[in-house]
Amino acid sequence: MAPEAELPGPGPPAIAEARVPVPLIRPAQPRDAVPLATMHIQAWRETFAGVLSDAYLQSLSVEDRVRMWHRALHATTQPVPERIHVVAVCGEDVVGFAATRPGGEGPRPLELWGIYLLRAWQGSGAGQNLLDAAIGDRPCFLWTGRANLRAHSFYRRNGFRSDGAQQVIPEWEGMEVFRMVR
Ligand SMILES: CC(C)(COP(=O)(O)OP(=O)(O)OC[C@H]1O[C@@H](n2cnc3c(N)ncnc32)[C@H](O)[C@@H]1OP(=O)(O)O)[C@@H](O)C(=O)NCCC(=O)NCCS
Repeated sequence: MAPEAELPGPGPPAIAEARVPVPLIRPAQPRDAVPLATMHIQAWRETFAGVLSDAYLQSLSVEDRVRMWHRALHATTQPVPERIHVVAVCGEDVVGFAATRPGGEGPRPLELWGIYLLRAWQGSGAGQNLLDAAIGDRPCFLWTGRANLRAHSFYRRNGFRSDGAQQVIPEWEGMEVFRMVR
């Protein structure tokens, strides 16, 4: 006869604790260009649905993005301290990235030109880990879309504030962006 402890009894059902793995952050390498390009486009489609037209989002070309990432990642073979590319990876999958470049005429010597995490990984802590790996606590600026409220909260939490600069990007269907600085 089975011991009593194995019989189903009253009491709360056992619920397995849900654990979200936090992706690993590492420097991007030239071999990441293709998965980065694919992930970058998926992140654009998730982030800008309803902001950019479906036609625009569908027209994004993986080949163009691969070329862009090849250029960016090969440029890092001659290191420039302001050019940082880090990826968030889960096993073999690239699920996010953060990238910086010299600030040019901008208000700080460093610009965060992109930080993107696939929606499934947002809220996991990987966004913060990407930002920390890319810019640490350095002074920096970035441009962000007006409608991108989640990103604004994230940047504010990290000390960024609007400095009043804004522009319209014609090649992004006239998207309005504004600058945040810390
Ligand atoms: C920006 C990004 C990297 C942040 O990473 P994340 O994992 O989402 O960040 P967190 O969950 O730690 O923080 C998000 C903040 O937004 C808040 N938030 C969540 N959903 C929100 C929503 N729908 N509207 C407004 N704020 C929201 C969270 O509460 C948190 O704010 P808090 O720090 O005051 O608590 C990530 O959201 C992302 O990749 N988004 C898509 C791409 C993108 O927009 N990139 C920026 C382009 S400028």
